[in-house]
Amino acid sequence: MQGSIDATSLNRREARVRIFVRHMGACFRCPSLPTLVAIVGVFFAGTCFEGAFAQPRINSDDGPELRTLYANSQDIEEGKRIVESSCTGCHGANGISESPGVPHLAGQRPAYLYLELRAYQAGVRGENAMNNVVRPLSDDALFKAAAYFASLDPPQTNAANGAKAAAPDPVQAGKTAAAGCAGCHGDGGISKTPGMPSLVGLDPKYLVAAMKAYKSGQRKNDMMKSMLASVTDASMNNIALYYALQKPERAQTPAAGDRVAGGTAGAACAGCHGTDGVSGNPATPSLAGQDAAYLGSALQAYKQGTRSDETMKGLAASLDDGAVRNLAAFYASQEPKPPNVRQPLTAEEWAQRCDRCHGVNGNSSDPRLPALAAQRLDYLEKVLQDYRTGARKSPQMAAMSNVLTDQDITNVAAHYARQKARGVVFVVLPSKPGTK
Ligand code: HEC
Ligand code: HEC
Ligand code: HEC
Ligand code: HEC
Repeated sequence: MQGSIDATSLNRREARVRIFVRHMGACFRCPSLPTLVAIVGVFFAGTCFEGAFAQPRINSDDGPELRTLYANSQDIEEGKRIVESSCTGCHGANGISESPGVPHLAGQRPAYLYLELRAYQAGVRGENAMNNVVRPLSDDALFKAAAYFASLDPPQTNAANGAKAAAPDPVQAGKTAAAGCAGCHGDGGISKTPGMPSLVGLDPKYLVAAMKAYKSGQRKNDMMKSMLASVTDASMNNIALYYALQKPERAQTPAAGDRVAGGTAGAACAGCHGTDGVSGNPATPSLAGQDAAYLGSALQAYKQGTRSDETMKGLAASLDDGAVRNLAAFYASQEPKPPNVRQPLTAEEWAQRCDRCHGVNGNSSDPRLPALAAQRLDYLEKVLQDYRTGARKSPQMAAMSNVLTDQDITNVAAHYARQKARGVVFVVLPSKPGTK
């Protein structure tokens, strides 16, 4: 039987079975009837999305944590008493937290909850409030508390949770912020004005470092300093990303020198700037396709010490005016290449990757993996940061969180905080009379 649980037919077959069906999704599957009746189980709802996810197979010999799936009503009653005496102060009545940094636990997956409680007890989730809480509790108490929290109705998404609007697309924001730069640096960062550097084909890290150096006065140029005076760091990141993602072209400006002679002289520069002027190192700018007049003035500035860089000062010192012109002509004639950056993913695109493990819209269908839907925004942000710094350890999440930027974390956390939570469907057997 697929598609629905028929509570009455269950009751008819096994009179002792009492059924609490919590938060059924619009559709779901359930295991065959004999298993359902034989074991006291938890079945997961919300996986009705066209074959996207295999329903986890849950066997009684799957591991000790899956014991939480076989909790009976008495275990849950006892869990409730434990929780009310030691947990609600922080996690809120009914497992809905009102405290910043404290997660909602209502409707969270039972095996996951139990495993995390064990992790706190072993001290492997870093220094935090939970370590002292769980220390005095027995394994049995952890199991019951986990089963109780899992049996509660999950949090409702409320407007405040995740209301923080997703930040605008950084590339679009960069384009807007760079509107005033085009007059000198050209449309899309391709210079049309001799003496003005192109900004395409440069690594965003180099661009950001250059902008910050102007702003702080470390790189001296009064015009650029005033241009960037009111530009925030976040905006510089966006601007740099925008230019880095534009299709590079050579500057549309003349070059006077002898590019063949410059190519020969360029052998001395190839180790850092690349043989054809395309650098593989974000700290070393690419020179390919750059405006020749700018290249010439930059080399003169290093030589005279008005642009301070010890490496380039030493190298430029030995170049005469002719050599500078030839090198500039050579690099200006080279083909610029896009730096190694990718278009950032939107929160929705990230979520597609996360949902592979965390379930559709963060409604995990594996009892060992946490649901993310409707979780507190501040908590989601905090734990994602913890995975990234390694304060919280998980091989899967370390790999995932490493590639997230701060902005991605804010966006993806807001995405999950906004999702509708679908709880687990509990089918709870009353304990047999006479057993504990
Ligand atoms: C003093 C406040 C406090 C008390 C009391 C408390 N908790 Fe927590 N709990 C927290 C905080 C803060 C976190 C998040 C810590 C972190 O980031 O790892 C947390 C996290 C958890 C988690 C991990 C949730 C997840 O999604 O990973 C579980 C499970 C949990 N608590 C269960 C309990 C249980 C069971 C009790 C009672 C026996 C309890 N807590 C009592 C503050 C508390
Ligand atoms: C009025 C003309 C002008 C405007 C407008 C202007 N710049 Fe510049 N920019 C320059 C000049 C000239 C230089 C070269 C200065 C030097 O020699 O260090 C430069 C250099 C730079 C560099 C360093 C390039 C390199 O290869 O090291 C960056 C990055 C930069 N500008 C970014 C911007 C951004 C971003 C804006 C808009 C917010 C902007 N500029 C607006 C004239 C301008
Ligand atoms: C040891 C590595 C190294 C070598 C060799 C080297 N450079 Fe550089 N070059 C750099 C670094 C690093 C920078 C960035 C310095 C800064 O931030 O001002 C730079 C900057 C430049 C710039 C400024 C580009 C811009 O967009 O503002 C020019 C032009 C340049 N180098 C030309 C040359 C030439 C020509 C040679 C060979 C004669 C050469 N470099 C050899 C490391 C090197
Ligand atoms: C390969 C499977 C996998 C993928 C993909 C994955 N996760 Fe996880 N995630 C896990 C596992 C396993 C845990 C539990 C780890 C632990 O015990 O700390 C977890 C835990 C979490 C938690 C902690 C939940 C809590 O209640 O404390 C958050 C938040 C989270 N993941 C977010 C994400 C986000 C956002 C993405 C996508 C960018 C993602 N995950 C992708 C497997 C995955």
